[in-house]
Amino acid sequence: MTTFTNLEEYADPEIYDQENTDFEPDGEFYLAYAQQIGGAVLELGCGTGRITIPMAQQGVDITGLDIAPQMIARAKSKAQQLSVQWITADTRDFALSRTFRLIFESGATFQHMLTQADQENMLARVREHLEPDGRFIVGTIMPNIDLLKDEVEQEWFTYTQGDKQEVRVSGTQHFDWLSQIKTETAIRRWKDLKGQEIVKHAPLSLRYTFPQEMKTLLHHNGFIILESFGDWDKSTLTQASGHIIHVCRLAH
Ligand SMILES: C[S@@+](CC[C@H](N)C(=O)[O-])C[C@H]1O[C@@H](n2cnc3c(N)ncnc32)[C@H](O)[C@@H]1O
Repeated sequence: MTTFTNLEEYADPEIYDQENTDFEPDGEFYLAYAQQIGGAVLELGCGTGRITIPMAQQGVDITGLDIAPQMIARAKSKAQQLSVQWITADTRDFALSRTFRLIFESGATFQHMLTQADQENMLARVREHLEPDGRFIVGTIMPNIDLLKDEVEQEWFTYTQGDKQEVRVSGTQHFDWLSQIKTETAIRRWKDLKGQEIVKHAPLSLRYTFPQEMKTLLHHNGFIILESFGDWDKSTLTQASGHIIHVCRLAH
């Protein structure tokens, strides 16, 4: 199995938290399934606990797994005494001595699997850890022609850091139609205490899986799709949808 290298964007978990704050809308969606299904939950690619921590606060028995030790360390420090199992591991290659009623990935973690082998290894680990009548939820960004194109540097957004420093975030993107991988490079600019501009580049590659390809992949890897949605509000999956969300069970 290849070493996982697609992680530069997660080198600084404080920056991640400043730019990714809200539990909604995906957190509410997963929380509702966790409450409906009951029992132990595993979140793959939990990051700094944006979803994990509020779910634990609602009484969900949850395990958060992520490959980036610095993301897990920040999640642990934010969770303090809250009862959460934190695991540093690769979604493609982990073995926990227990199973779960619900396994979900969040924040496009599945799209971090850049090859079919990576995707299938992750699905195999889900199969091994899911209870026979459990549920697996996978949500990906709908590929559409407007998203999948090359772009020169564009302004993305601006925010203010704790000490009132303004951070300007812009980025470039490149889409490779053969591998179906889009690489976005975030460029962050701010000034240090001497007024000197700091510039940091962080590339992140995500693989886009087309709707019929996703169905085929799940079918051939032992999953039956029970429900499909086009967004976290459970809207119908159409070609105009922003997401492809499948709620699955094991085929046998
Ligand atoms: C966009 S972040 C999402 C974090 C969190 N789920 C959220 O929604 O805020 C993607 C996360 O996936 C993790 N990740 C990427 N590849 C992974 C892998 N092979 N195994 C486990 N975690 C992985 C990254 O470390 C990162 O924390």
